[in-house]
Amino acid sequence: MGAMKTPMLRDVERLARQAGVILRMGFGRRHRIEHKSHWIDLVTETDQEAEAFLLDQIRRLFPGHAIVAEETGVHGDVTGSRWYVDPLDGTVNFAHGIPIFTVCLAFADEEGVRLGVVYDPMQDELFAAERGKGAWLNGRPIRVSETQKLADSLLITGFPYDAWTNPDNNLDHFAAFAVRTRGVRRLGSAAMDICYVAAGRADGFWELRLNPWDVAAASLIAQEAGAVVTDLSGAPIRLEGKISVVVANPAIHRQMLAVLQTHRRGQG
Ligand code: IPD
Ligand code: CA
Ligand code: CA
Repeated sequence: MGAMKTPMLRDVERLARQAGVILRMGFGRRHRIEHKSHWIDLVTETDQEAEAFLLDQIRRLFPGHAIVAEETGVHGDVTGSRWYVDPLDGTVNFAHGIPIFTVCLAFADEEGVRLGVVYDPMQDELFAAERGKGAWLNGRPIRVSETQKLADSLLITGFPYDAWTNPDNNLDHFAAFAVRTRGVRRLGSAAMDICYVAAGRADGFWELRLNPWDVAAASLIAQEAGAVVTDLSGAPIRLEGKISVVVANPAIHRQMLAVLQTHRRGQG
């Protein structure tokens, strides 16, 4: 077997833009909505169409690479070259006609994520990063904010799909931050949220129980833009199972962890 092909950042950007066209064309139409693991965990035909497109292209252009994709699961051996695909991050927004959603595409090798792209097709904003080389929004370098105090910060969060039944549903953390910051936003696309921290639009983001495809691309973009990315205990995240994350500029990250740790005592 010959050496496997490795993608360039421009390849990943092109695929994300093409999938973005599929989302833009589907937006605003009536959707066939199916419910997944929980009543509020939705999938539309557009999620499936965009995922099928991306899987087909990755297999054609990079034969032998493994793929971890939201709607169809794991394809191949994920210990080597692999892709993380969320064809539509923000499905609830999409299904309700709210133009806040993204395509997320990451390529990882033995050392972790090397290339990450998050594309917002409605605003034509493409966030991208290459490990060790930097992070960009539509080709311009991006950087996290310099906000030093939590009281001056704007944060973003989200709530898990099991929020109706799991008491560890982030509502108490939301309340704690709402009275210590300028505000807490809930945009509905975790990848966009994290990219907004990377670009300095917000100062920090946290969310419980995300999936590898939600965070793979965006966490590289945030790290390359100077953000600290950890789990709730301050340890590096791993792209497996459910992932709770805190992403923020270094000063705000420290203060967010302190608030979360106080409020999580007793919750494990
Ligand atoms: C969801 C979005 C949302 C977050 C959920 C995710 P999906 O992804 O990122 O903001 O709160 O936890 O699952 O289902 O729209 O791809
Ligand atoms: Ca997602
Ligand atoms: Ca999705």
